[in-house]
Amino acid sequence: MPLPKAELHLHIEGTLEPELAFELAARNGVSLPYADTEELRKAYDFEDLQSFLNLYYELMAVLRTERDFEDLADAYLARAAAQGVRHAEIFFDPQAHIARGVGMGTVVEGLWRALGESEARHGVSTQLIMCFLRDESAESALETLEAAKPYLDRIVGVGLDSAEVGHPPVKFREVYEAAAALGLRRVAHAGEEGPPEYITEALDVLGVERIDHGLRCMEDAGLVERLVRERVPLTLCPLSNVRLRTVDVLADHPLPAMLDAGLLCTVNSDDPAYFGGYAGDNFDAVRSALGLGEERLRELARNSFLASFLEHDEERRARYLAEVEEYRF
Ligand code: ADE
Ligand code: ZN
Repeated sequence: MPLPKAELHLHIEGTLEPELAFELAARNGVSLPYADTEELRKAYDFEDLQSFLNLYYELMAVLRTERDFEDLADAYLARAAAQGVRHAEIFFDPQAHIARGVGMGTVVEGLWRALGESEARHGVSTQLIMCFLRDESAESALETLEAAKPYLDRIVGVGLDSAEVGHPPVKFREVYEAAAALGLRRVAHAGEEGPPEYITEALDVLGVERIDHGLRCMEDAGLVERLVRERVPLTLCPLSNVRLRTVDVLADHPLPAMLDAGLLCTVNSDDPAYFGGYAGDNFDAVRSALGLGEERLRELARNSFLASFLEHDEERRARYLAEVEEYRF
């Protein structure tokens, strides 16, 4: 039985496995510029975040109907459950779909068909986090929040993703203020490729409660001290960092140093279909490459539930935390 954990940094579009991409392409009459899954997999040799994003957005062309989004999410939840995920807070990128003529309703209703069945079918509780694309305009983000208003009972919070450098958090001040006024939780990618200042800005200007990635905080001792003091969770994604070349090899990943510094780190999969592994695979990888002991792994699992947005159901959080404490490696 795998270690119970929550997944807090997962882009549902990044769970699109090549086999499902071809299946959906056939179903929807979409042609992909790859002969087969093998040729597609060869394109998974990324130089940086942007080279990954290019393929990530290209393959989204196969996602057209509610059923497509349902199948995508259900396939993810089955895999996550098999790797010990008990709770998943799932990102989606509506602007990337709306731009292709696929409406907010199709995306949210489709995902919800799978999420609504997830506890019964997979034993995984779920929440949805709507991300704004930071390389799109602030106006577009505001329009997206407006389009989401009929579905807010299904969305726990907002996030910020896509190409980071040159798109500082401050650009999205207004939409985050509006999201807060609607009672939405707030997170943002920061310090993945962008500088530590983006982490500070996400906290101070956007009022985020968690930082997605946050790896580059390690360049600023004062910032590390603050993140420790304020217990700001970081949703790290080790296999993603290697595949996008933020770190050279997993053995060089700063996770052990971050834990030693007292940071509230969690381990997540980001875009598992593209980066070589789901949540449990990320745990296994850091365990072997970084020599993390059982108590460190337990700490990471505990942190994942402490950092999750389960305030509406503290009983559930306590149950998950008890599972972590009782787990025998
Ligand atoms: N969108 C999907 N995965 C992402 C990542 N790792 N960073 C920024 N945007 C993303
Ligand atoms: Zn991400």
